[in-house]
Amino acid sequence: MKEYRTKDIVVHWQPDRCSHSAICLKQLPQVFDLEKKPWVNVEAASPEEIIRTIDNCPSGALKYSLPAGSAVDSDLGHGPGSKDHQVASSTVNIKVIRNGPLVIDGGFQLSDTDGSVSQQAGKTSLCRCGLSEKRPFCDGTHHRQGWKVDS
Ligand code: SF4
Ligand code: FES
Repeated sequence: MKEYRTKDIVVHWQPDRCSHSAICLKQLPQVFDLEKKPWVNVEAASPEEIIRTIDNCPSGALKYSLPAGSAVDSDLGHGPGSKDHQVASSTVNIKVIRNGPLVIDGGFQLSDTDGSVSQQAGKTSLCRCGLSEKRPFCDGTHHRQGWKVDS
């Protein structure tokens, strides 16, 4: 997990969770740019714009939190992309993405085939095509391989 911070926001990045939807790259290219190092520039947009973008990340690879003394409205800072969002939520939503993963929004316990059990929180994209190299998580292979299931 990597962190990029200003006095008003911390962006948390877990690369092995990214499903490569490119939503962040399209929605806020001045902040999320794979051509640059580091690829996240938290100074390039307002914390509110960054929050609105990360709220749309379907995999939970990007999350945010508000440091003590942040000037950001705390209601805004507890949206779907915030680190603590799912702790407070009792409802788990599962969205089936056409020709793509299952996007789970909520906290749940994942029991893997190797017997390991982990707690998941926030948004998580689970592979539906079986092609991901990071199963059970989606890594975007469905898109690169043109996987189609028509539902
Ligand atoms: S899954 Fe999240 S971090 Fe990965 S490209 Fe999409 S929006 Fe960005
Ligand atoms: S659904 Fe995305 S890699 Fe399988």
